[in-house]
Amino acid sequence: MFTVLNNALLKCDLSVLRNKHTPKPLFRLALERLSEVMAMEICSTFTLDAFPIETPLELTEGYRFKEKFLLAPVLRAGLGLQEGFLKFLPEATVSHIGVSRDHITHQPHYYYSNIPANINELHAIVLDPMLATGGSASMAVKLLKEKGATKLTLVSVVAAPEGVAAFSAAHPDVNIFSAALDRELNENKYILPGLGDAGDRLFGT
Ligand code: PRP
Ligand code: URA
Repeated sequence: MFTVLNNALLKCDLSVLRNKHTPKPLFRLALERLSEVMAMEICSTFTLDAFPIETPLELTEGYRFKEKFLLAPVLRAGLGLQEGFLKFLPEATVSHIGVSRDHITHQPHYYYSNIPANINELHAIVLDPMLATGGSASMAVKLLKEKGATKLTLVSVVAAPEGVAAFSAAHPDVNIFSAALDRELNENKYILPGLGDAGDRLFGT
């Protein structure tokens, strides 16, 4: 299932990210704030377990998430979403996944991962702001599945229709949440209107 989150705060911060005149410090700030809002929206769809708590006055019912979580930021740009999600899921394990897209062929190349042995017990939330061809996110999810993940969610900020179609075909069991569905890819497989190269804008390289 593909869901575009409808939230005024996301629209405002995404506009800051899209603006080519936004300087790096502001870009980072807007992406971190946007990731907090996305985390809040997405976490609110997760199942809760009830458990007893004692207030200073009496016994009552409290709630906590039923699942344990793994955050999997796809390097590098996925790092921009990490802190926002950790704010709401502070107990999550974090597994960075190194995938970069070849500038000529646009194919993803895997270069790093560190995935825990108990991955099969965790709901893996893959963080990657750009879903362009869908190749990088598909590769990250395939890797997590090969290591034993059975429950996965993909978080993107800007998605292209081509990427949503390709990713959904490869991983129909994985829900995708995004802040925007853009128009199309250009000849270099960049998202239009998009926000440019997310990693370069975040890190200045
Ligand atoms: C960007 C982005 C995604 C990928 C999306 O990463 O962060 O991971 O491209 O494109 P795709 O859907 O066509 O695979 P990039 O390869 O530029 O690496 P970086 O984050 O290190 O800059
Ligand atoms: N990667 C990005 O950072 N931006 C795009 O538009 C496409 C891939």
